[in-house]
Amino acid sequence: MTDSLKGLLIGCGFFSRNHLHGWAEVDGAEIAAVCDLDVSKAQAIAQDFSIPAWHGDASVMNAGDFDFVDICTTMDTHETLVAQAAAAEIPVIIQKPLGPDFATCRRIDQISREAGIPVMVHENFRFQKLFLRLRDILDSGEIGETSFGRLSWRNDIDVYTSQPYLLKTERFMIMDVGIHMLDLARFLMGDADAVTCLNQSVKEGLAGEDASTFLLRHKNGSVTAIDISYASHRTPSLFPQTLGVIEGRGGTVQILENEVLRVHSGGNIRDEKIEDDGRDWTSSPWTQIQDSVPRTQQHFIDSLCHGRAFQTSAEDSLQTYALAEAAYRSAESGRLVSFDDLETAP
Ligand SMILES: NC(=O)c1ccc[n+]([C@@H]2O[C@H](COP(=O)([O-])OP(=O)(O)OC[C@H]3O[C@@H](n4cnc5c(N)ncnc54)[C@H](O)[C@@H]3O)[C@@H](O)[C@H]2O)c1
Repeated sequence: MTDSLKGLLIGCGFFSRNHLHGWAEVDGAEIAAVCDLDVSKAQAIAQDFSIPAWHGDASVMNAGDFDFVDICTTMDTHETLVAQAAAAEIPVIIQKPLGPDFATCRRIDQISREAGIPVMVHENFRFQKLFLRLRDILDSGEIGETSFGRLSWRNDIDVYTSQPYLLKTERFMIMDVGIHMLDLARFLMGDADAVTCLNQSVKEGLAGEDASTFLLRHKNGSVTAIDISYASHRTPSLFPQTLGVIEGRGGTVQILENEVLRVHSGGNIRDEKIEDDGRDWTSSPWTQIQDSVPRTQQHFIDSLCHGRAFQTSAEDSLQTYALAEAAYRSAESGRLVSFDDLETAP
């Protein structure tokens, strides 16, 4: 396609292969070059995906060759890389977590706004087919106004071999998985402004928490309970399934195992099985997550091309990251923490 936007992918580690498979499917965009501080990784992945150029320094952004940059590095690098992209006037899609704390996320959003450069967080869980269908059911009014939600992510997948940096991450589970659940809670139940949270470090030797249990207070009066754990042992493993329930004033949707939505409304019950997309590059157990990657990327490109706001812009995501910050403060203090208790509101 001659009019494709040309992208630079920065960060050629564990998850970047999903990005490159995804970009190959996206209408209106292509990856023109990849970059990693470890240039041998950049070269290897470029060869695997037939990408014409590879680099070892993100300052290649200044060459004027790129219409967007896809940042797939860990959160400690995000502020610097977004600042570089903003200086080069290149729109950004960036992996979650946006930053290691709320103050950093605020600065990233400020960099984006001051430069007039749009930044979207690659928050792919809301682009899973299951949650898009659930959002449609809620929008149809079938179960009425939402009043209670529960989202549960519990498994014991070995994240430590593929992402060893997680062993040393002090803000671990809430930033790694909690952030997806907080975004989903906002997507399904509306914005929230207060949290109570208890954290646990179940596996020995971790720098941070590997299990968290939260209650969210939504601005519309509804409540969401969230529980997440990487120390939950079941056979077969539930990774990467989010289970739970959404209750409305006139019905309920249960999110059951193996991507089944059970809808209770008007005294009736029906099951909707959400099928995988059937891509040849996805593989169990990651399929549900992998399938959501090209949908997330397509939303970025479509929004960019039509001048529309991203669903998960840096600005919008401040609501999510403020909840994560409030959750850590709550876990430390043992109290409900609202946005009024943060130094700056989102
Ligand atoms: N959305 C999801 O479902 C999902 C799943 C897994 C990981 N992730 C996220 O993806 C991100 C990347 O995770 P990963 O496991 O692939 O990490 P990784 O450590 O395997 O890879 C990151 C790569 O970035 C490179 N890098 C770091 N700083 C750089 C810089 N300034 N310039 C160029 N390259 C640089 C590193 O050398 C490394 O190769 C993380 O933020 C993680 O949270 C998201």
